[in-house]
Amino acid sequence: MSLASKHKKLEKNVNLLAIGSFIAVAIGGIVEIAPLFWMDNTIEKVEGMRPYTPLEQAGRNIYVREGCYSCHSQMIRPFRDEVERYGHYSLAAESMYDHPFQWGSKRTGPDLARVGGRYSDEWHVQHLKDPQSVVPESVMPSYSFLANTPLNADVAGDMLVALRRVGVPYSDRDLRQANLDMALQADPESGGDVKDLQQRYPKAQVRDFDGDPSSLTEMDALVAYLQMLGTLVDLDSAAAQEKLAEEKGR
Ligand code: HEC
Repeated sequence: MSLASKHKKLEKNVNLLAIGSFIAVAIGGIVEIAPLFWMDNTIEKVEGMRPYTPLEQAGRNIYVREGCYSCHSQMIRPFRDEVERYGHYSLAAESMYDHPFQWGSKRTGPDLARVGGRYSDEWHVQHLKDPQSVVPESVMPSYSFLANTPLNADVAGDMLVALRRVGVPYSDRDLRQANLDMALQADPESGGDVKDLQQRYPKAQVRDFDGDPSSLTEMDALVAYLQMLGTLVDLDSAAAQEKLAEEKGR
């Protein structure tokens, strides 16, 4: 019997066809699902990663709300052209606390995974208010309203509670202090305990971000978020770890 006629048998017998289809789909399913069972190995921990501060997380929420991801990705791929332009390629662990992640595949604008520290706060504020005033050929829309929109700090605690439920390791203290932390990060002159904030959130940048110390705005949050992107992991030490693992594997 030729292979084609064997297949004919399969097509004509509904039970056989159902069993055959099930097997074919199950193979696809296992290939997709199995890696999740070994998630802990898939995502290697890297030093320096920590959950977002309440202010950074609020900025991230604004980023998602405004659809910045429709033009910007946050994943540097391991290709030479990308690494030369944007820096070290993204590590899986760098988005381990991202809900939802912002990897993306659409790049009308540049990748933002390592934009933190590349420009001044003033540049970001000016660029977000009026992109064409700094990059005349830009097609990015204006987000000037963010500078006049007060940031709602009352929801900070709830925001962290929700993230903790999906596995982000905030402490009880982080939850209790969330709205104070949020205000303090953008206003170090307020008399709060900056050292304590930076102990719980290492490398947190504490300053007025939007150039207007009198009020806490959505602009403060978004700029705080942009300025921390890609700044947490010491990539030299990540590269060293990688080299070590490679040598062990040999
Ligand atoms: C319609 C597409 C579009 C949208 C939406 C958009 N951008 Fe952009 N963005 C661009 C383009 C194009 C550039 C490059 C030209 C420039 O610098 O303005 C850019 C540049 C940038 C840069 C500078 C990056 C660099 O490395 O030079 C930042 C930061 C940025 N955008 C942030 C944002 C944020 C935050 C949002 C959402 C509030 C946003 N963008 C929404 C298109 C967009």
